[in-house]
Amino acid sequence: MSPPSLKLNSGHSIPTIGLGTWQSKPGEVAAAIKTAVAAGYRHIDCAHVYQNQKEVGEALKEILDEGKVKREELFITSKIWNTFHSEAKTHENVDIILADLQLSYVDLMLIHWPQGYAEGGELFPAGENGKMRYSDVDYLETWKALEAAHKAGKCRSIGVSNFTSKQIQRVWDAAEVKPACLQVELHPYFTQVKLREFCKEKGIVVVGYSPLGNPGSAFFRKDGDPNVLTNDVVAAIAKAHGKTPAQIVLRWFVESGLSAIPKSVTPQRISENFAVFDFQLTPEEVSQIDGLDKNWRIVDLSQRDCDHPHCPFLDEF
Ligand SMILES: NC(=O)c1ccc[n+]([C@@H]2O[C@H](COP(=O)([O-])OP(=O)(O)OC[C@H]3O[C@@H](n4cnc5c(N)ncnc54)[C@H](OP(=O)(O)O)[C@@H]3O)[C@@H](O)[C@H]2O)c1
Repeated sequence: MSPPSLKLNSGHSIPTIGLGTWQSKPGEVAAAIKTAVAAGYRHIDCAHVYQNQKEVGEALKEILDEGKVKREELFITSKIWNTFHSEAKTHENVDIILADLQLSYVDLMLIHWPQGYAEGGELFPAGENGKMRYSDVDYLETWKALEAAHKAGKCRSIGVSNFTSKQIQRVWDAAEVKPACLQVELHPYFTQVKLREFCKEKGIVVVGYSPLGNPGSAFFRKDGDPNVLTNDVVAAIAKAHGKTPAQIVLRWFVESGLSAIPKSVTPQRISENFAVFDFQLTPEEVSQIDGLDKNWRIVDLSQRDCDHPHCPFLDEF
């Protein structure tokens, strides 16, 4: 049986719960994907910048060669990195991604961030004072290249990540192929209500990243940052349902018509995060979790990238 999914404006469907792969180390990510697919996941979230896509591709090949799951049952997302925003570079990145993943198409290709970095070299071209060296390529050029890749059959659906409502509107107005999906940070401490409403009106599916508030990240997490999974309200709802806090948070995504892509390389957590389709939250419980919003984000690049005119942290939503 196919897992629950959301309909995209491209006509394809995206399974509601997917597996994240950022910070899944080489040597861990293949095992995580195999565990996830065995547990019922069909949606895997990848990106060029995670630098583990070759191993993801090997795992996908093994899974497909085994024959228990067919390619058309899987939903594979990847993302064009910031150093590939010009038209030629976007095409190059699409082809690198497909080669690494050993696929002839991805199900969803996103522009990872609206701000471009200097092209042609390292993934994080360091500038001065902790900033990046930027490129001034407009993301509308990247979008046009993605439309062409879509028409060539390389990306079944196309979308954006970390774009604000104004930036999505700009793409929308210029687009021949409308964005099918927005991937953004979203969890009970960052509920993104206005952006969700904006996307709903346009029929854009929202995928929440860091859906558990990334409790284990040493990368962005600072001392004193809040932890979604130890929140008292979430804990009380978890107790009432005999579920874990992570399952309550992920079920809140399902009840809210959102997709979520929790990352784990721990077999027991990978299964736990997918076991959210056998219970429901009451409308009151959903409202209680809605009420936890603190407008707190973990993936905050505002210090590093906000000199760029397309930095997404400057708009209200
Ligand atoms: N588009 C973007 O710019 C962007 C940005 C960030 C993330 N993403 C995507 O979104 C995915 C998820 O976000 P994320 O990795 O930042 O954070 P997350 O999924 O909220 O949290 C991942 C962390 O939580 C731990 N964890 C997972 N399940 C758990 C459970 N049931 N109980 C307790 N801890 C649990 C994981 O540990 P273990 O792995 O050790 O089990 C890991 O340390 C990423 O992997 C990536 O694919 C996209």
